[in-house]
Amino acid sequence: MKGDTPARYGGEPVRSETIGYGRQSITDHEKAAVISALEGDYITRGPTVTEFEDKVAKRIGVDHAIATTSGTSALHLAGQAAGFSPGEEILTTPLTFVSTALTAVYTGATPVFADIDPHSRTLDPEAVRRQLTASSAGLVPMHYAGHPADIEGLLSLADEHDLTVIWDACHAFGGSWRDEPLGAQRDAAVFSFHPVKNITTGEGGMVVTNDGGFASRVRRLRSFDIEYEPDRHVDKPWYQVADGIGYNYNITDFQAALGLAQLERLEEFKRQRDKIIDRYDEAFGEIDGLRTPPTPVDSEPMYHLYVLEVSDEFGCSRKEFVHAMHAENIGVQVHYVPLHYHPLFQKKYDYSPGEFPVTERVYRKIVSLPLFPGMDVDDVRDVVRAVKRVNRYFSD
Ligand SMILES: Cc1ncc(COP(=O)(O)O)c(C=O)c1O
Repeated sequence: MKGDTPARYGGEPVRSETIGYGRQSITDHEKAAVISALEGDYITRGPTVTEFEDKVAKRIGVDHAIATTSGTSALHLAGQAAGFSPGEEILTTPLTFVSTALTAVYTGATPVFADIDPHSRTLDPEAVRRQLTASSAGLVPMHYAGHPADIEGLLSLADEHDLTVIWDACHAFGGSWRDEPLGAQRDAAVFSFHPVKNITTGEGGMVVTNDGGFASRVRRLRSFDIEYEPDRHVDKPWYQVADGIGYNYNITDFQAALGLAQLERLEEFKRQRDKIIDRYDEAFGEIDGLRTPPTPVDSEPMYHLYVLEVSDEFGCSRKEFVHAMHAENIGVQVHYVPLHYHPLFQKKYDYSPGEFPVTERVYRKIVSLPLFPGMDVDDVRDVVRAVKRVNRYFSD
């Protein structure tokens, strides 16, 4: 049937405009909030940032939330506040974005990868156990696509070996595990508010923790590591003290205004994401060679990504599938090229392909389909049509 020929092999694309895998949803509500912040006294970090931090802390159920310029800078500060240092080894997953491992790298500590569980695609506690040495000091698990890592297993390992845990929860804002928000688990967690994430501030991130000392260290490092009100302040009101190497990772009040307005829409965003996921699950569940995302146990994730696994029975390789979907103007993506494939980790830490077989097997199959709140029924229909059309072409 010519009309059903995929665009890559001579047909017309299912749509003329490319749809990406993720995108922000900004309404007049958010625009008004940003304008109102811009008309206020502060356009750098001011009271709206504090309000955003307080609201996030309350929502996650933690005592402290510190907003930063990005998820990456939040991970940097969290690693430093945890005291990760040269000679120490920090265990993490290879199936993640580079920033997860930078939590160790920035501090001079060594990132040590451990293989993943193929079902959840998150760190496998038993694989972590095999990588432990006397130098192991920390653990940075990532809630892949929003699916919780094995929180119980990893925390009990951390207890046994006295590891500080920093959860990379950049994908997971709005989700919960055993009725507890993801991010509330010790010792600290980090969120990203990049435009494709579950809520956005443009660029932005947040560290959350119940540890007061850890929180004040993050706060200080965020702002130049300067003590703005040292004891001498009474005597010399202008006096400030810099006694360490800090950063300017301050987020602005107008970004926080956007974040506050997005927070109000979190349930709406989750409903919209869940609806698209249900539609995809229904459409793809019966197709040979496609594995839909796993159903999580004891948790209610807010999925950031919809990750399919494409295997041989589908009829074509994952690579061919990606090209075919792009030709249909469906901007699928692969999350992620495993970290041990990157020159950074090969040159600096001597990693090489072949070391993490489960991660590599999963990597060869995964592909993220578009998933974001602004997708309408036509967008979802186009994605479904494109997948089915490619499948039929290779099945006939
Ligand atoms: C798992 C993970 N960690 C960290 C980050 C870094 O977040 P940001 O882009 O806000 O720096 C990302 C962002 O894409 C991510 O996906």
